[in-house]
Amino acid sequence: MAKKYFIKTFGCQMNVYDSARMADSLASSGYASSDVPNNADIVVLNTCHIREKAAEKVYSELGRLRQLKAEKRETDGGRMLIAVAGCVAQAEGEEILARAPYVDIVLGPQTYHRLPALVEQVLRDDSGPAIDIDFPAEDKFDHLPEESAPQGVSAFLTIQEGCDRFCTFCVVPYTRGAEQSRPVEAIVAEARRLVASGSREITLLGQNVNAFHGLGPDGRDWGLGRLIRQLAEIDGLCRLRYTTSHPRDMDDELVEAHRDVPQLMPFLHLPVQSGSDRILAAMNRRHTAYEYRSLVDRLRQVRPDIALSSDFIVGFPGETNEDFAATLRLVNDIGYVQAYSFKYSARPGTPASAAEDHVPEEMRRDRLETLQQLLRVQQDAFNREQMGKTLSVLIEGEGREEGQLVGRSPFLHPVHFSGPKHRIGYVADIRIDEVLSNSLRGAIAEPTDATAVATQQSALV
Ligand code: 5AD
Ligand code: SF4
Repeated sequence: MAKKYFIKTFGCQMNVYDSARMADSLASSGYASSDVPNNADIVVLNTCHIREKAAEKVYSELGRLRQLKAEKRETDGGRMLIAVAGCVAQAEGEEILARAPYVDIVLGPQTYHRLPALVEQVLRDDSGPAIDIDFPAEDKFDHLPEESAPQGVSAFLTIQEGCDRFCTFCVVPYTRGAEQSRPVEAIVAEARRLVASGSREITLLGQNVNAFHGLGPDGRDWGLGRLIRQLAEIDGLCRLRYTTSHPRDMDDELVEAHRDVPQLMPFLHLPVQSGSDRILAAMNRRHTAYEYRSLVDRLRQVRPDIALSSDFIVGFPGETNEDFAATLRLVNDIGYVQAYSFKYSARPGTPASAAEDHVPEEMRRDRLETLQQLLRVQQDAFNREQMGKTLSVLIEGEGREEGQLVGRSPFLHPVHFSGPKHRIGYVADIRIDEVLSNSLRGAIAEPTDATAVATQQSALV
């Protein structure tokens, strides 16, 4: 029987992508995937270090795995290897082995292509745990097998990793290292393979994705706008998205791609973190609230239906009531359709963690609640506006109810409606007739005249 692996992913979409690639590399070494950790021969935790809570989750999970590891030994005399991968591994390295000595492998995000070799080494040498948290000179993408499992209708593709921005609260520049972009040809080839395997939407991923500057086929560096235009040429690729962006890296070429490329969805995650210039400066964001507002204006000029999402941190060291009020003002003025908001969490090694004017926990909690209420009101209002509209929906699969399909609107709402299974993977026009708190319901809109039939058919790729 084939040996089995189980991977649990914490954190962002980059980690989801990385886990899929680790799965590919284990599969090419003969491992089969398992839906549960019990009895697996190797369990990988792909971890996140962005906030303290995320990092602590890893240790509680490790506690549970310790038990399973012991049970496996007792029941079938087998060995369960435990690997900690990702950003906690990168940041804490040896410390993980000190806190959880039953861990066998610690590997960082830049070395996960070496996972099968590390597994082999640990099993062969029996000389204790293996740690690999280098930032190697070789590119891991050159050493990974091609994707083995199709990702489905909507797929992720990492085009850029790491970050050179050094926001003062953020661990990413330390855990993921310096900004690195993949070459354009490798990205286009991967996108073509995804489309050939059935994907119709690709979300381009990077910690600071719009800082992308990959080597083009012409020997020059290409920006994200140019890459998007190139990818839009791929037949059968209906939708493109990218995340996560920094406002300072939003160049004209990319703004213009929002105007010119119909496949580029009118939804943009553009983190601002704070609406106060004083706090933005202390965060080293290198833009003001005014500059952010102007950028949003430019985006709305070229793509009036663009919907915005953002990240916010409340209670950054030194944040006063006035600073917080500026954030609320900015939210009110911009109008977000969705957002992630967090209490500031001091991260070891980051400049902000050394500050002396930390905001009391209670105040951070209250501010978060106030901000989230406002964001919820905006999100609900946006969702209600969809009532009666006809949205183009990329059908991703079957819903929970009999005969039901589920897809996503351009703005990422899950949309449920009745329809035949063979339409999965196609785009359909859905008239929205019910708005729920986190999803929409509707029905396939009947084309009303011959032109509509023609457009609908062309939308069906
Ligand atoms: N504390 C709270 N939130 C943080 N983020 C990043 N670092 C921290 C931190 N130290 C948030 C930012 C970022 C998102 C991915 O996580 O809002 O955009
Ligand atoms: Fe972290 Fe994003 Fe700032 Fe880079 S741009 S340091 S990833 S918050």
